[in-house]
Amino acid sequence: MVKIAPSILSADFSNLGQDVEKVENAGCDYLHIDVMDGRFVPNITIGPVVIKSLRGKSKLPFDVHLMIVEPEKYINQFVESGADIITVQVETCPHLDRTIHQIKEAGAMACVALNPSTSLSTLDYVLTELDMVLIMTVNPGFGGQSFIPAMIHKVRDLSEKIKSVTSSAVIQVDGGINTSNIGTMAKAGAQVFVAGSAVFNHEDPALAIKKLKEAAVL
Ligand code: DX5
Ligand code: ZN
Repeated sequence: MVKIAPSILSADFSNLGQDVEKVENAGCDYLHIDVMDGRFVPNITIGPVVIKSLRGKSKLPFDVHLMIVEPEKYINQFVESGADIITVQVETCPHLDRTIHQIKEAGAMACVALNPSTSLSTLDYVLTELDMVLIMTVNPGFGGQSFIPAMIHKVRDLSEKIKSVTSSAVIQVDGGINTSNIGTMAKAGAQVFVAGSAVFNHEDPALAIKKLKEAAVL
């Protein structure tokens, strides 16, 4: 089943609570929360304090994408503040297996993200441990970038790998997703679609989510 996860990076931060309510009422499936530290990526966003304050206002599963170095130092704090899914970037995790177990022991679903240039082979020995794999379809750091077409092939390859090891991991894609590429990515095997600008820059987020879902199943 196709799931849409609006990224709050494109929301109006001066009206964050209202924007979250808007996409929740619009029928999205997850709330994608981009956490950036100015070290792994050249941008800084928000941390656990903001997530905790949003937690009281929303019933949506919080899909927290950590684009930070040394994520293991903060995983428990993010889960305590309300994260349901924790995604770490494989490039930041020298002890990936340990980090995945830490996420699960903290009580969240475990997801690992790969930058566009990072090989799928980095997941070979942990694929069966994962609830989700995030294929970055832009270089992380900013919303509103263009989708990288080479990622279509990567998602297809990952889909094959997941089947071959009978992992239950689902594939998420993030970056530049819109109505013109979501169908191709769904056919390639993606099931969870992060959409920042395609949802929040649309005058009617409910219509944007509906159109994305329709385009994904065409
Ligand atoms: C990029 C972030 C994405 C991004 C998506 O570093 O991880 O979640 O905000 O925004 P769009 O859909 O505008 O590319
Ligand atoms: Zn993201």
